[in-house]
Amino acid sequence: MFGQIDHIGVAVEDLDDALDLYRDALGMRQQHRERLESQGVEAALVGVGDGHVELLEPLSPESNVGRFLARRGPGLHHVAYRTADIESAIGAVRAAGLDMIDEQPRGGVQGSRVAFVHPRATGGVLTELVEPAH
Ligand code: CO
Repeated sequence: MFGQIDHIGVAVEDLDDALDLYRDALGMRQQHRERLESQGVEAALVGVGDGHVELLEPLSPESNVGRFLARRGPGLHHVAYRTADIESAIGAVRAAGLDMIDEQPRGGVQGSRVAFVHPRATGGVLTELVEPAH
């Protein structure tokens, strides 16, 4: 069902401060930056090997990431697994009896399609399925 870990999502208070750390201090290459209204975040991708770290600054305190920051502070937010066929992956997750947050894919960074599995179904780890843009 999954090809590899696509990215780790990290909730941050300030994207520029986070890029100072990941890009400038840790030397990862910045690959992309995008305002994603559909997810209520401004996101930046930094690359490490074939994977990424997705830095997420909320656009508002009411967004998913905004509420996460208020409740738990900055830190690890989700893990994302890459799939070649997100509809099949959603079907397989549901067939396994696990609840999806997103029954249908929505838009992710760089034209990808993504869907989140409910964290109560995955031991408290918010899990994202990602089908990269082709
Ligand atoms: Co993500």
